[in-house]
Amino acid sequence: MIQHTQVAMITGAASGIGKAVAEKLAGQGYILHLLDLNATALAQLEAELATQSKVKIYVGDVSDATFVADVVAQIGSSGQGLDCAFNNAGMTSPAASIDELELDVWQQVLDVNLNSIFYCLKYQIQLMKQQGRGGSIVNTSSMLGLIATAHRAAYVATKHAVTGLTKAAALDGAEYNIRVNSIHPGYIETPLIAHLDRQALAAKHPIQRLGSSEEVANLVYFLLSKEASFVTGSQYVIDGGYSIQ
Ligand SMILES: NC(=O)c1ccc[n+]([C@@H]2O[C@H](COP(=O)([O-])OP(=O)(O)OC[C@H]3O[C@@H](n4cnc5c(N)ncnc54)[C@H](O)[C@@H]3O)[C@@H](O)[C@H]2O)c1
Repeated sequence: MIQHTQVAMITGAASGIGKAVAEKLAGQGYILHLLDLNATALAQLEAELATQSKVKIYVGDVSDATFVADVVAQIGSSGQGLDCAFNNAGMTSPAASIDELELDVWQQVLDVNLNSIFYCLKYQIQLMKQQGRGGSIVNTSSMLGLIATAHRAAYVATKHAVTGLTKAAALDGAEYNIRVNSIHPGYIETPLIAHLDRQALAAKHPIQRLGSSEEVANLVYFLLSKEASFVTGSQYVIDGGYSIQ
C-alpha cells in the first residue's frame, strides 16, 4: 500500500519540547501545521524547517476555542487532512500555597493547560472521524499529572486532568482507529524551567540530570507513528526515574 505523506499539528511549537518534535517530524518529511503565541520564534522555526518540509504557521492562543477550531478547519480544507497531533502548549503556575493561589491565576492555568487540550481534541477528532483514516494524538501532561508537588496546585490539577481527558478521548476515538496517549516528562531543559534551580532539580532525578527536548521528541515520534499502532490511552513517563522513588 502506498502511504501518503503524514500531516501533523503541533501546539507550543516555537520553543522547547514542541520545537524539538517539529524538528524531528520535519526530518522525517511530515507536513507540519505549527501553532504558538510567539510570532517571532514561530517565524524563525518556519524558516529553519522550510528546506526540509512543508510548514504552515498559525500565531494565536490555544486557550481560545475559536482559534483552535479555525486552525483545524483550515487544515481540513488544505486537501491533505490531518494524521497526527501533538497538543503540548502549556504554562507553569507560580509557586503558591493553595490558600494563597489567586483566582485569576487558577483560571488562567486551567484555560491554557487543560481547556486548550479539550478544544484541540474536540476539533481534531471531529476532523479525523470525517476523514475516516484514523489518527494519532499525543497530549503533554507531566510527571506532575501522576504525582503531586507542594505549592503548584493549579499545575498539578491541570496535568492530572490531562491524564484523565486523554483516557476518555482514547475510548471515544478507539472505534475510529484514532489513538490518544499522554506523555509525562520529568524536568526537561527548556525555557519553561529557566527560573528554577536546575542543579538541585537534576539531583532529584535518579539519572542525575535533566532530560532534553530531543529525548522527549523521540518518544512523541514513536507514539505518533504507526509503530505504536496498538498503543492508546496510555501514560508514558519520561522522567529519568524521578517518579518511581
Ligand atoms: N520543561 C519541563 O520541565 C516540563 C516538564 C513536564 C511537562 N512539561 C510540559 O511540556 C509542555 C511544553 O513545555 P516546554 O518545557 O517545552 O516549554 P516552553 O516554554 O519552552 O515552550 C512552550 C511553548 O508554548 C507556547 N504557549 C504557551 N501558552 C500558549 C498558548 N496559550 N497558546 C499557544 N502557545 C502557547 C509558548 O509560547 C512556548 O513557545 C508544557 O505543557 C509543559 O507543561 C514541561
